[in-house]
Amino acid sequence: MKQQEQFSSRLGFILSAAGAAIGLGAIWKFPYIAGENGGGAFLLLFLIFTMILGLPLLLAEFSIGRTAQQNAVRSFQIIAPGTKWYLIGILGMISVFVLLSFYSVVGGWIITYFWKMITGQLNGLTEPEYAEIFASTIANPAISLGAQLFFMIITIIVITRGVQNGIEQANKIMMPALAILFIILVIRSVTLDGASAGFSFLFYPDFSKVTAHTVLDAMGQSFFTLSLGVSAMITYSSYLPKDQNMPKSAVSIVAMNIMVVLLAGLVIFPAVFAFGMEPDAGPTLLFNVLPTIFSQMPAGMLFFAVFLIVFLFATLTSAFSMLEIIVAVLSRGNKRKRKQWAWIIGFAIFLFGIPSSLSFGLLSDVSLFGKSWFDLADYMVSNVFMPTGALLISIFISFKMKKCALYEEIKSGSNLRFSVFQAWFFLIRYIVPVLIILVMLDVIKG
Ligand code: PHE
Repeated sequence: MKQQEQFSSRLGFILSAAGAAIGLGAIWKFPYIAGENGGGAFLLLFLIFTMILGLPLLLAEFSIGRTAQQNAVRSFQIIAPGTKWYLIGILGMISVFVLLSFYSVVGGWIITYFWKMITGQLNGLTEPEYAEIFASTIANPAISLGAQLFFMIITIIVITRGVQNGIEQANKIMMPALAILFIILVIRSVTLDGASAGFSFLFYPDFSKVTAHTVLDAMGQSFFTLSLGVSAMITYSSYLPKDQNMPKSAVSIVAMNIMVVLLAGLVIFPAVFAFGMEPDAGPTLLFNVLPTIFSQMPAGMLFFAVFLIVFLFATLTSAFSMLEIIVAVLSRGNKRKRKQWAWIIGFAIFLFGIPSSLSFGLLSDVSLFGKSWFDLADYMVSNVFMPTGALLISIFISFKMKKCALYEEIKSGSNLRFSVFQAWFFLIRYIVPVLIILVMLDVIKG
């Protein structure tokens, strides 16, 4: 049975899938992790993983989704009936549940900051004052939980509207806006005096900072930014008509994602260095360092407002895809159920996210396995669930799907040559699983 809902065009699909991919991973996580891991070396590892693992896996998820044209769980049941492979879909649902629970916390911070900005509370302060304002804002449970709830409500409303009227329409507005605003920001940042130290930090690899953990982080980062291993791309591609070109879409999405990672790096690092700040400030890098930098530029607060809008759009478009994975499974194409489940699951995610939000305030002293609840949730999703999901998907596709049927599926809408298909199949069958296992073992040993 075909999905009842579909994207109306390839552009709608590409923008939505790129919207799912481009988010906190590229704009918030990448700069601070790269900042802590020596910049250029991390960027290089990330690019390598994206090309040899990310791109093949993206096409793999597309092929599963469009072959079955069903949600993340049903897709596996249709392709491998009577087996337990559908647990990959369940793992994906659990992963995005946890993921959205802390993602929405950061979404809330952006909204709060935007509010503070337009009400003039962020004008002309010094770096310690920004750090202080940020810390006290996120420590305030009423503000941070209220903003997190607001972020979830926007996400829920878009998802209740369905694929074409909700997800596709929102992405068609937000993604082009994001691209234009980003370019304005990059031009501002790279034309600052002293920006060149930022370029060398971002583009000159310093391998002395690379450890087994850096390698895992870079792999986790490439899965995270491309939304892989959690069936997000299976869900979106199930709404893709058969006459659309999947390999080309996959390449465009990876290219856009890399572009945004580079653009985010180009906005942040030149500015950080031009104003003599440190690139390894951690998760708060954006929120403390950027307003300091922007406030010292002419019309800086205007640029900061632009930045926050870009950031919010990117975060929302990713959040839509997370909630959609779960709602698609539970509502099975029923419109009324879609609405009900979107509200129920959206609210449950908010509740589960409360300890993440409080990790920066009331619960800041509580740690599990040496990490705060927020960090633990992030670590589990990025470095455990996503690589595991990706590993299982690569095994599923190479051993459970018929090679000729896969080729037919991928060729439908494209004119992919058999030799290119063979190369992809080789990567996904041998290289992807082995690399994932090696990186994970290396970390367990280390
Ligand atoms: N790719 C998103 C980001 O970089 C995160 C994400 C992961 C979204 C998994 C959906 C599913 O922010």
